[in-house]
Amino acid sequence: MKITVDKNKCIGCNICFDISEGTIGTRFGSDGKAGVNPEADLSKKEVIEAAKTAAEACPMQAIKIEE
Ligand code: F3S
Repeated sequence: MKITVDKNKCIGCNICFDISEGTIGTRFGSDGKAGVNPEADLSKKEVIEAAKTAAEACPMQAIKIEE
């Protein structure tokens, strides 16, 4: 499972942070763009589900989740 944020699309609104329950957010990226929390446990189903919800909610469709 891999989560990536397209920095060319991300506008740094940080909606993803709350929705992903801290897995994705601007505090983990650079230049105000979102990144993935290096401490996120991507083997947990609930973490992935929250990340998927955040990907759907991102207004720029900047979050990509690869199975
Ligand atoms: Fe960027 Fe989308 Fe999050 S625009 S800050 S990845 S909600």
